[in-house]
Amino acid sequence: MDRLRSWLRDHLARRPGWMNAVMFFCIFATVIYVPWDFFLKPVADDHEAWFGVLLTGYWAKATEPLHWAIYAAGWYGFWRMRSWMWPWAAVYAAQLVIGMFVWGVFYVGGVSGFVTGMICAAPFALMTRALWDARALFEGPAIALAERYPGWAIITGASAGIGAEYARALAREGLNCVLIARRRERLAALAEELEQSWKVETRIVVADLASPSAAQEVAAAVSDLDIGMLINNAGVGYAGAFEKQDCDRLEQMVRLNCVAPVALTHRLLPKLVDRNRTAVIIVASLAGRQPLPFMAVYSATKSFDLLFGEGLWVELYSRGVDVQVVQPGPVATEFEEASGESRSDPELDQSAYDVVKVSLETLGLAPSITTSWRVHAVATISRFVPRTLMAFISGSMMERQTPPDMR
Ligand SMILES: NC(=O)c1ccc[n+]([C@@H]2O[C@H](COP(=O)([O-])OP(=O)(O)OC[C@H]3O[C@@H](n4cnc5c(N)ncnc54)[C@H](OP(=O)(O)O)[C@@H]3O)[C@@H](O)[C@H]2O)c1
Repeated sequence: MDRLRSWLRDHLARRPGWMNAVMFFCIFATVIYVPWDFFLKPVADDHEAWFGVLLTGYWAKATEPLHWAIYAAGWYGFWRMRSWMWPWAAVYAAQLVIGMFVWGVFYVGGVSGFVTGMICAAPFALMTRALWDARALFEGPAIALAERYPGWAIITGASAGIGAEYARALAREGLNCVLIARRRERLAALAEELEQSWKVETRIVVADLASPSAAQEVAAAVSDLDIGMLINNAGVGYAGAFEKQDCDRLEQMVRLNCVAPVALTHRLLPKLVDRNRTAVIIVASLAGRQPLPFMAVYSATKSFDLLFGEGLWVELYSRGVDVQVVQPGPVATEFEEASGESRSDPELDQSAYDVVKVSLETLGLAPSITTSWRVHAVATISRFVPRTLMAFISGSMMERQTPPDMR
């Protein structure tokens, strides 16, 4: 409970007290007030006010889902301090100012109506002004990553895709990078790019992270460095019916996707805890949210990464380490080709740049994140759909994406 208390205290400290109060009102309206109004209040007693216009009965009921969506968005927006809250939170509050004023003037009437309107509108006018002035708060911490997580960034799987984009984003922020993968020439080209473009230092570590000694070798190769971030990104997929898959390749995948992040994080942990703030990122996948027939072992490895990271987040939060599990959906990288999958809608793939951007913008806010609204919607739906049904749905989708000889 101490860990929960300390996390909540830190979380609430991100906003001024009045904004926490507004956030808690949004939570109350989303969870209790509007659902109670919608589902339990008799139609004849229902009232909703928009811009001061009072709707009753079925008209009031019909607009409640919109009210609910606004409060739910407010809850999410305040909780995560999302940038789109400016100006929209202030715009909504301004609507309330108009509404309260119009309500007073027209529903009370006369001079006392005007006075009532002014009195009712005043607190909302103050709130509108405060939300308008809070733009900087919604634009995220002004602290640069290099200041927040001083030291070197260790990036596994940096020779391609998401890992290479992490390296570019962090070098752009001024962090020195250790680049790890098997393909030396790719790492060397990236190192040269980072050094020339961003004047940072780099170190290349060529390692097969699926080998049992890899974590030890990497830890030795960075033992002289101060580490600010560890990004466990290297991973592979493998599409196919389980019985047709090559057992050695499956074992390699489990070692790379599961054992390597565990072993590397464990070996580097003494350098990460109880310093300034440091970060451990684990790249999991939307595939880890539900069973994925025809990629069953891969999805299980990503489920492992998710639970491993979320558990670690609680253990390490009070030791100064921000753990983040990143769950992208399909991303345009070499992953699809390497795993033997063939996606039906490649144009829906997110870019590796966007995945990394979301990850770094939300680092420190939550134990696990999804990287787009589409991925978030699928992850949320999969939480509520019965698992048996979800397994069949994802199975029929994955079967189509698996080469015929591997089905
Ligand atoms: N792309 C997607 O659709 C997607 C979706 C969700 C999650 N993810 C996850 O995102 C992560 C990065 O994937 P990506 O999309 O960027 O794929 P990618 O473009 O294929 O890159 C994979 C990286 O992992 C490295 N790697 C592979 N096997 C390795 C080994 N045995 N030892 C050391 N490094 C190894 C590769 O480098 P070398 O070959 O040079 O060793 C490469 O740098 C993975 O964990 C993946 O599961 C990807």
